[in-house]
Amino acid sequence: MAMTTTTTTTLFHSLIPINSYKPKAAAYSFVSLPRSSIPSSPSSLQFRSLVSDSTSVYGRRKFNENLRRLSVTVSAAGATEPLTVLVTGAGGRTGQIVYKKLKERSDQFVAKGLVRTKESKEKIGGEDEVFIGDIRDPEAIASAVEGIDALVILTSAVPQMKPGFDPSKGGRPEFYFEEGAYPEQVDWIGQKNQIDAAKAAGVKQIVLVGSMGGTNINHPLNSIGNANILVWKRKAEQYLADSGIPYTIIRAGGLQDKEGGIRELLVGKDDELLETETRTIARADVAEVCVQALQHEEAKSKALDLASKPEGTGTPTKDFKALFAQVTTKF
Ligand SMILES: NC(=O)c1ccc[n+]([C@@H]2O[C@H](COP(=O)([O-])OP(=O)(O)OC[C@H]3O[C@@H](n4cnc5c(N)ncnc54)[C@H](OP(=O)(O)O)[C@@H]3O)[C@@H](O)[C@H]2O)c1
Repeated sequence: MAMTTTTTTTLFHSLIPINSYKPKAAAYSFVSLPRSSIPSSPSSLQFRSLVSDSTSVYGRRKFNENLRRLSVTVSAAGATEPLTVLVTGAGGRTGQIVYKKLKERSDQFVAKGLVRTKESKEKIGGEDEVFIGDIRDPEAIASAVEGIDALVILTSAVPQMKPGFDPSKGGRPEFYFEEGAYPEQVDWIGQKNQIDAAKAAGVKQIVLVGSMGGTNINHPLNSIGNANILVWKRKAEQYLADSGIPYTIIRAGGLQDKEGGIRELLVGKDDELLETETRTIARADVAEVCVQALQHEEAKSKALDLASKPEGTGTPTKDFKALFAQVTTKF
């Protein structure tokens, strides 16, 4: 098809020449806990001292008191319950990877997905916990968000290429959005519907993937189909930041279908990374950052631009706590 830049950077950014992509302007219960699994000191020391003191009435009272205290201590130190996470756009290119990563880490997560069609559901395994629904319809979202702890939003309006483009004749393809599936309906109303539904369901964190470029109203992506996609995405990001729900907004650079985990990730703010040579990122890396954002307090109530150094330069990012700690911006 028409994209001739790289085969892996997809439409959203590949139709913009690289140089023009710049902004201008625990829960153990004590009774069921085998002694061998009690964490070593100070809890095990505490356990021995309370047992030896349990023969007198005073000692028994003290024993019970200590037992309660120890139980609380062990609870806090023990394994936490897996987080139930819904990924929307779970049939999309990044959404699929996030959903798979969550499924693979079943000790930490219970994965749920929301997709638009039966075909998308089958594509990601057709599991019972994959809901089919359209985010433009609030009712379709309500059942999917029920009982979840966190939401990862990976839905987006997707531009279509106008038929008749012949790459052999040169020039650029033209794009359009289908009626009813413009960024205003999907990236604004659809995202807002998800945030509202999550809030009503008592969701504790929302991770939203957006795009770099939103500080520039004249960004070329806004002219695709004359639909202001970055403007509507930004409006949804603002709505999330104002929602009162702990959030992480990830504004990705140009997405590439490349292997993840092998590059140094870069975080930034206010589209500053777009002024540099490092403004792309593998979808697999974006997906990992989404998953890690669910596990680190340092990621909460922050917005970050995300790109990576080219493979072979820098040190592949492994410490996500430190990565999120670098981010100082709330929006
Ligand atoms: N492409 C880039 O270079 C680039 C750069 C920066 C940021 N981004 C952003 O990064 C995010 C992930 O991008 P991606 O390329 O991985 O996404 P993608 O493959 O385009 O996936 C978008 C998903 O949204 C779903 N969707 C669209 N309208 C929907 C609706 N009304 N109801 C329910 N689901 C709906 C689509 O469902 P179907 O599968 O049924 O169509 C699709 O699964 C997007 O927000 C994108 O804008 C992209």
